[in-house]
Amino acid sequence: MMQIKSLAEYEETYKFSVEHPEEFWAGIAEKFLWKKKWDKVLSWNFTDPQIKWFEGAKLNITENCLDRHLEKSGDKPAIIWESNDPEKPSVTLTYKILHEQVCRFANVLKKNGVKKGDRICIYMPMVPELAIAVLACARIGAVHSVIFGGFSAKSIADRINDSACKLVITADGSFRGSKQIQLKEVIDDALIGCPTVEKVIVLTHTRTPVSMLKGRDLWFEDEIKLVDTICPAEEMDAEDMLFILYTSGSTGKPKGVVHTVGGYMVYAGYTFANAFNYQPDEVFFCTADIGWITGHSYIVYGPLSQGATTLIFEGIPTYPTPSRLWEVVEKHKVNILYTAPTAIRSLMSFGKEPLEGIDMSSLRVLGSVGEPINEEAWHWFDEEVGHKNCPIVDTWWQTETGGLMISPIAFVTPLKPACATLPLPGIQPLLVDENGKEIEGNGVNGNLCIKFPWPGILRTTYGDHERCKQTYFSTYPNLYFTGDGCMRDEDGYYKITGRVDDVINVSGHRIGTAEVENAINMHAGVVESAVVGYPHEVKGQGIYAFVIYPKLHDEPELTKKDILQTVTRVIGAIAKPDKILFVTGLPKTRSGKIMRRILRKIAEGETTNLGDTSTLLDPGVVEEIIASAQQL
Ligand code: WT7
Repeated sequence: MMQIKSLAEYEETYKFSVEHPEEFWAGIAEKFLWKKKWDKVLSWNFTDPQIKWFEGAKLNITENCLDRHLEKSGDKPAIIWESNDPEKPSVTLTYKILHEQVCRFANVLKKNGVKKGDRICIYMPMVPELAIAVLACARIGAVHSVIFGGFSAKSIADRINDSACKLVITADGSFRGSKQIQLKEVIDDALIGCPTVEKVIVLTHTRTPVSMLKGRDLWFEDEIKLVDTICPAEEMDAEDMLFILYTSGSTGKPKGVVHTVGGYMVYAGYTFANAFNYQPDEVFFCTADIGWITGHSYIVYGPLSQGATTLIFEGIPTYPTPSRLWEVVEKHKVNILYTAPTAIRSLMSFGKEPLEGIDMSSLRVLGSVGEPINEEAWHWFDEEVGHKNCPIVDTWWQTETGGLMISPIAFVTPLKPACATLPLPGIQPLLVDENGKEIEGNGVNGNLCIKFPWPGILRTTYGDHERCKQTYFSTYPNLYFTGDGCMRDEDGYYKITGRVDDVINVSGHRIGTAEVENAINMHAGVVESAVVGYPHEVKGQGIYAFVIYPKLHDEPELTKKDILQTVTRVIGAIAKPDKILFVTGLPKTRSGKIMRRILRKIAEGETTNLGDTSTLLDPGVVEEIIASAQQL
């Protein structure tokens, strides 16, 4: 399983991976199943950018995730599914069964006209059929674009249109804790503006009534009865597109991050096997949603490519009680638990009681992802969940990186609380100052960049390569810029300090401030708005909106509700501001630029030390904002 076993081995492997990257990655890639091996391991430049891994190689990722395990592990559980409702029985799909179902559904797609290269939108609850849909696309070479179940009709329509999806896979509805989301209804609304979508396949899940459009909508359950169980895997080039995943950035429009088959597979598989130290027969539980990259890489592709057992949990950690997550761990004897700081902080707030009497002795490794973890949460996770017996891997990475980048390797890397520690083999980080000059040595802070490609790096942003270049490869010439600030401590350990761009990390979800502002500004009556992040006890960061709304009468609370409703409609509930402050003006420079730095300070509650305000057009605005902020 290509696992590193000791610190000395890590150091040696790391050195080799930097000195001989091609040889290193070729050696890893050898462990996968290829229909034809590559002609060239790597060609690249970070200026266009153009990055190709394993050029000339042919493969299908689902043969690596399914077929190659059948002989030895056909009866091993591939997926264990745990419902939102603790009373509902869980479901186990062995590798044999998963293989069969993926082939079946792949045939459904084919029967409905889907061909290699077509884009397919998936908007589904966390059920096994979601993983089946993803893998079925990959089986026939269709490009999946999974959209998280919390996004609005408008967000879905924008994403579907951006990549001209031909077919949508959805369900009647989804359960999340005590809430239900009418997925099909949202899709119906979205599709009013999506001319490219020809068919919609609908899974029955919540049994909520839905309307089925003649000639367009089909039931999942009917369709799979009409096809057979054999579906040869499409032969893909290593650099063919595997999927698109939309993510927010500094600008208003989310971009479609593109990953390709060969490099992504190698990277997701290698990082999974190593960082978590997965052992055969263990149960791996990642609490993310498959609608995010974490779910793509560490619920579906990483674990399955390594023949692991992966747990899919439909619910949320605190439903119906704050013991639920721990009960799931106990029930399925989870060995590796990979979750987010926001979940840990939320569970921590209920104290130790929900953990009492629950046997979590199966746990061996813990993981954290999505945002900087605070020390308090780290220690709580370590002591109360891991009983100081389980290494915590604090994994730093991004949608764009495909897999873990800076992360401890369990049982290998000496840990430090709340620290992502060291780069994985093949990853060459460096810190730069504002001018792009490398900051050398230890005990330093800077902007985090990567100077050499790894197999999981994004290849482009869908339909707009220039945007990929501008966003990631232009800030500093010849470097991939992450958008994160980072400290390299006295021991050379990396500690991520957070985004340095206009991105807010709310509960581990990336939200662009411009996107939220655009949404707020769509509300009739709003003249202008500015959105910043502020420290939030559970979410890590909260969303603070400063809004100019001149016709504010005597019901500001009602207006706030309306604005929240608008944001929910335009983006989705995940982007709702936590605080809205009505103001009469925003702090702007003479050239009209909003000085967010000042707003950020005010949102943090800092009112005296606002830094240089001499470039402000009207300093009076700031005092006014401070005065009303103190009353909020
Ligand atoms: C951003 C990427 C791929 C992980 C899920 C989120 C932040 C992620 C950590 C960590 C500190 C982290 C960064 C990064 N982030 N993991 N362990 N410590 N910060 O993926 O939505 O693409 O967001 O999440 O700011 O840039 P994403």
